[in-house]
Amino acid sequence: MQQADLFANQDEPSPEQRVKELRRQLEHHNRLYYSKATPEISDAEYDRLFRELEELERKHPELHDPDSPTLRVGGEPIEGFEKVRHLVPMLSIDDVFELTPEALEKSPGTRAEKELIEFYQRVRKGLGQDDVAVTIEPKIDGVAVSLVYRNGKLDYAATRGDGSTGDDITHNVRTIRSIPMELTRAKAPSIPPLLEVRGEIFMPNEAFAAMNAERDEAGLPTFANPRNATAGTLKQLDPKIVAKRPLAFLAHGIGAYEGPALETEHDFHSLLDALGIPRNQPVIDAHDLETTLEAVGHINTLRHELDYGTDGAVVKVLKRSEREKLGFTSRAPRWAAAYKFIPEQKETTLTDITIQVGRTGVLTPVAELKPVLISGSTVSRATLHNQSYIDEKDIRIGDTVLVHKAGEIIPEIIKVIEDCRPKQTRRFYLHDHLDGSCPACGGPIEERVNLSGPKENQRRIITHYCLNFECPAQLINKLIHFASRKALDLEGLDEAVASKLVENSQISTPLDLFRLSHVDLAELMLDSATLSSGKQSKSRRFGDERATKLLQSISAAKDKKPLSKWIYGLGIPQVGEATAKEVSRLFMSIKELRKSQLLADIYERGYAITWKIEHPINSDYETISESERSFRKAKFSELNPRIKELEKKLSEYVISSELGAVAAKNLIDYFDSNSGNQFIYHLSELGIDPQSDNFNPFPSEKSGPLAGLTFVITGTLSMDRDDMKAFIEEKGGKVSGSVSAKTSYLVAGE
Ligand code: IVH
Repeated sequence: MQQADLFANQDEPSPEQRVKELRRQLEHHNRLYYSKATPEISDAEYDRLFRELEELERKHPELHDPDSPTLRVGGEPIEGFEKVRHLVPMLSIDDVFELTPEALEKSPGTRAEKELIEFYQRVRKGLGQDDVAVTIEPKIDGVAVSLVYRNGKLDYAATRGDGSTGDDITHNVRTIRSIPMELTRAKAPSIPPLLEVRGEIFMPNEAFAAMNAERDEAGLPTFANPRNATAGTLKQLDPKIVAKRPLAFLAHGIGAYEGPALETEHDFHSLLDALGIPRNQPVIDAHDLETTLEAVGHINTLRHELDYGTDGAVVKVLKRSEREKLGFTSRAPRWAAAYKFIPEQKETTLTDITIQVGRTGVLTPVAELKPVLISGSTVSRATLHNQSYIDEKDIRIGDTVLVHKAGEIIPEIIKVIEDCRPKQTRRFYLHDHLDGSCPACGGPIEERVNLSGPKENQRRIITHYCLNFECPAQLINKLIHFASRKALDLEGLDEAVASKLVENSQISTPLDLFRLSHVDLAELMLDSATLSSGKQSKSRRFGDERATKLLQSISAAKDKKPLSKWIYGLGIPQVGEATAKEVSRLFMSIKELRKSQLLADIYERGYAITWKIEHPINSDYETISESERSFRKAKFSELNPRIKELEKKLSEYVISSELGAVAAKNLIDYFDSNSGNQFIYHLSELGIDPQSDNFNPFPSEKSGPLAGLTFVITGTLSMDRDDMKAFIEEKGGKVSGSVSAKTSYLVAGE
């Protein structure tokens, strides 16, 4: 035994043990959160574990591990992608049959069935048998990736590339929480020495829709669909950008492998499950042509409910011995076939283009469409984003357009059917239409130019904003956001109610909600609306019951909602849920936040770093004159010590990347603005003072009612032991394994 061990505290884990344990726990929760959608702990508890690990790693650089969950938020940008030679070629599937929903309905005699029969006959002939067991699963519309695990650790991740050589994207893949860095030993009999998992990286539909909406608000270009968003993200050289994009992964195949024998696809799936690798589901078994076609049809109806885009189904021979017998062509396995579903696209008339005012004042042109039913719901509007989008697609009022739902959610105009263009169409110019003022309130507007895309091929995107903080259209959207579930969760305050309250001048800021009476709400006459069936509803009274419920949730918000929900509810650009949480970790109340030097420091640090990145001393993209170079050098030597000083000052706060320079600046601007000041004034007039529920500015020091106390848990409790432990730790207490002089309480039995 080493000398140091004799004096080690028996009941306290060493930093090394604790780091190991924290990494294990975080990996476990990552897996639950992403692959099974059944989180066991709250986001706050996850954050707490994460911060504890971050802090320990900072104090103990010798415990550095590139696979640590903390490094998944993205390390340093890389110069370019290294090439990786695949251990086993990454093939594609040859047989791609197109299967329209109509063809599926009247399947006999369709081309799809003919192709399927041909595939089957080839397989039967190849195997020399009548019945062949197959599996059918959704085809994920993502980006193919190969993950190579050696002795249970992720060795590298690569794209398909040309099939034999791909790009090494390990640094980006590390940021994807659903991909385990280390495989679990708990349920697997043994860890295979080599396992190459093939699968798709994708962006879940809802996360994609939310990200695009945010980009629209910020005047950034949107992605056409989740696949493009995924591919564009994986190409990034800076993993920090990747870490902010909601990517996920599902496995569907195997490449190189050394380990216990796998006889069927089911054996492979059991192995993935045991190792904690998320896999594609559902997988349907079939044994002949008829059941296979049935399964394909089933996947086609079910795919609208999956949280990722599917563009078809994949049929695979079940047994690996049979697969080996069938072998490969030069490009594809003979044991698999893919069916492509034609996405639902419909033609309709674009009757008008209107302008929508977002909650931050962004003015977006919107296509008003003759209602059509697409993938299960009625579509009557589609965003046109900005003028460049309208120009590029040459969209005019009166046109017939082809429409689909991007990522199964967002209605989008694919193209204009030019052959159907009537003689009299009208072009639309946002600039003329606005004529210098907001269409909703007549207030002043401003054009902001954003540059997007890589330096060598940059595009200018012009976005218009209404500058009037009191614009009623902005106010309606602000109210809806303020009342949304992730903000103050005001039950029943939907668009119809918000519009009416604003129209009646019953509300001029979100805080006016706290002054409404039961009668104000109950007597509200809501306008008639177009229902998803296309019918008009009658105008209706909001009514007593709904008024009572809304008032109850308003009162609950006043007394109980924590600071983070209020900050998020303000709808400040770039201040999303995670940023608001980080803000409330750093500040106890709005008053503190308002007079903060901390935000100014975060902004200054970000500004200085960005300046350096944008003004390099050597660059492939610009020729820098000698005088410019010496100017930059001089500025660098001014900025560097300042950055260092700020880094030092900020380091004890361990600020997450969610609260960056832009968010900090927007927060400062908001609380300096007239409306920010009004907000604070009305808040105190109403006697509301939201408090942080996760205040912990210096994560190394424990806080909470149980801070400084040590607990030992023993015997069978009335509560799950892990839950009890989490509960104590959340309140700042410590849980240890055995009783010692340091123990404050022993928790036992009921
Ligand atoms: S099995 C050798 N299963 O689609 C190829 N592929 O067009 C066997 N894909 O290269 C692939 N979802 O990248 C398989 N459930 C799934 C899939 C899937 C998407 C991709 C994959 C493949 C391409 C084939």
